[in-house]
Amino acid sequence: MNAQSPLHSADAATAEEAIAAQDALDTPMTSEKATEVAMQNTLLTPRFYTTDFDEMDAIDVSPVRADWDKLINQMKSDPNKGHFKKNEDWDTVDWDGMEPALKAEFIDFLISSCTAEFSGCVLYKEMKRRGSNADITTLFQLMARDEARHAGFINDALREAGIRVNLGFLTQQKKYTYFRPKFIYYATYLSEKIGYARYITIFRHLEAHPEHRFHPIFKWFREWCNDEFSHGEAFALLMKTDPKLTESFTNKLWIKFFLTAVYSTMWVRDHQRPLFHEALGVDVTWYGQEVFRKTSEISKQVFPFTLDIEHRRWRKNLDRMEAASRQIAAAKKRGGVGGMISRVVGMAKAATAFVSVLTIPAIHNAVPENPRLQPAY
Ligand SMILES: [Fe+2]
Ligand SMILES: [Fe+2]
Repeated sequence: MNAQSPLHSADAATAEEAIAAQDALDTPMTSEKATEVAMQNTLLTPRFYTTDFDEMDAIDVSPVRADWDKLINQMKSDPNKGHFKKNEDWDTVDWDGMEPALKAEFIDFLISSCTAEFSGCVLYKEMKRRGSNADITTLFQLMARDEARHAGFINDALREAGIRVNLGFLTQQKKYTYFRPKFIYYATYLSEKIGYARYITIFRHLEAHPEHRFHPIFKWFREWCNDEFSHGEAFALLMKTDPKLTESFTNKLWIKFFLTAVYSTMWVRDHQRPLFHEALGVDVTWYGQEVFRKTSEISKQVFPFTLDIEHRRWRKNLDRMEAASRQIAAAKKRGGVGGMISRVVGMAKAATAFVSVLTIPAIHNAVPENPRLQPAY
């Protein structure tokens, strides 16, 4: 904290305040490298999204009014205000003593998590700014507040390693990908729920094996994932306002596509951080399947099917996608004609594996009348 900015992002009431508080912390320091990593747009890196804000603004939440008001009031009561900052539980981190390869993977994890958190913040903040529907703008302002705090807290952790992601710069300079509102619902609903499942799985694992907690940030994961859980609940309610979104034939295909894409991206990305998972004492394949299990169970609240993650083609082809993605990365590095050919072959392999996973028959699910859930893991 410094004199100009007595406020910490954790205490901010809005996303704008939280971002300003973070930016004020970094006057002399810049970290081009971290921002450069956060700026990357590949299939595997977190993106920034934009959408048809007018269409989203026109949503009428009357069909889910009772649940909606309850959720909004719970978010307004702000149980996690002040939580996302260092306190006496924050142990000293020995960055210099950390094994360099682990340090690199962990920093990569923090930067990509920070970008993902901030991606949510940017989208939600924009919806709040553009909208005039009080129900919608209230929700999005509350979610933007949470995501700005999350991103700010990760930046606090990175700052100790002499790195930070320049949030203001990213907002202005990172490329935005356009998604129709319904794609935003599917993708964002899933990323909130999978985020919950990821954070709670790590939290519970470290609760049982505290000797593997090599960084204090993991102690904050329970409250953190509860925020993500609420955000996911909000998207579940939004989807419930229009049954077509989850019931029409075409939309079911889209849902299957998004489930497959989100799950396989996570699998590939996590398998690229073997040392990070080893340090946590987590078998990355077990972890992936466990997160899919939890996310699938939760998504039964609104999606009419789940993916068959025990199918014989499932893991085999996720592994193929992972191998293909390593081939593509190596080919990119190599360059030249040989590199280009290897890259194209890698892309074809990844696409074939993706189609093989996508065409696994889904498991039917009878969606309950009322979608609301409480975090149960
Ligand atoms: Fe978040
Ligand atoms: Fe979230």
